[in-house]
Amino acid sequence: MGKYFKELKPYYYNDNAALYLSDTFEALEKMLPEKADMIFADPPYFLSNDGITCSAGKVVSVNKGDWDKIGGIDEKHDFNRRWIRLCRRVLKPNGTIWISGTMHNIYSVGMALEQEGFKIINNITWQKTNPPPNMACRCFTHSTETVLWAQKADKSARHFFNYKLMKEMNGGKQMKDVWTGTLTPSAEKRFGKHPTQKPVYLLERILLASTVENNVVLDPFCGSSTTGVACKHLKRNYIGIDNNAEYIQLSIERLKNE
Ligand SMILES: C[S@@+](CC[C@H](N)C(=O)[O-])C[C@H]1O[C@@H](n2cnc3c(N)ncnc32)[C@H](O)[C@@H]1O
Repeated sequence: MGKYFKELKPYYYNDNAALYLSDTFEALEKMLPEKADMIFADPPYFLSNDGITCSAGKVVSVNKGDWDKIGGIDEKHDFNRRWIRLCRRVLKPNGTIWISGTMHNIYSVGMALEQEGFKIINNITWQKTNPPPNMACRCFTHSTETVLWAQKADKSARHFFNYKLMKEMNGGKQMKDVWTGTLTPSAEKRFGKHPTQKPVYLLERILLASTVENNVVLDPFCGSSTTGVACKHLKRNYIGIDNNAEYIQLSIERLKNE
């Protein structure tokens, strides 16, 4: 891995990955400008509202951790604007950013993207085939997440899209913006559990659609480093940032063994 930060040492690194145990706002300030070809961000959704859900047949709390709580709407939007602004600075002129979310944060994220100088390219709906049942029975079962894909709003920006490969992967028909698949399989949690771990297939499709081999991919809220595992499989260079030591340790295990 090359040099991407001033005054910040990786907690762990190997030939194609570097992990930073740090607050992402501090780390992004220290990152050198225009270094990332692509950014995938799975930020806090702020859905930890003391409600209930179902996991492995048991009623459990929806709370993910203190990192998933926020004071109110204004604080949430300010949080999203600030990290998206920092990401823009470290993204290359033709680079793109993908951000996942649910109704709890995605409308703020979409507005923050436009306010901070991005243009949304696609609104991907990730439809889960095996969502947990709705325990309260007062609304429809939540079974989707949104992934926004955006580029810099500059007139000269030309984003990369591997149209041909996506069409091939879709049996010769244009790939649509609804992607269907399972929740993260338990095999991907064999090194430990992250409460909001994404499935590797989702990240692999995102990488194949918008990057080429040896590109630099940044994940500013890396959690268990699903992005890093997909980068390893597809020979992309990976930079992961998370402020939770337990999740960084889990990331290391996955990067070494998956
Ligand atoms: C939604 S999870 C990401 C899960 C990840 N995509 C995966 O597959 O494992 C968000 C992560 O952001 C981290 N986080 C929240 N606020 C942060 C901050 N200010 N700086 C760094 N990391 C933060 C949390 O520790 C959590 O692991």
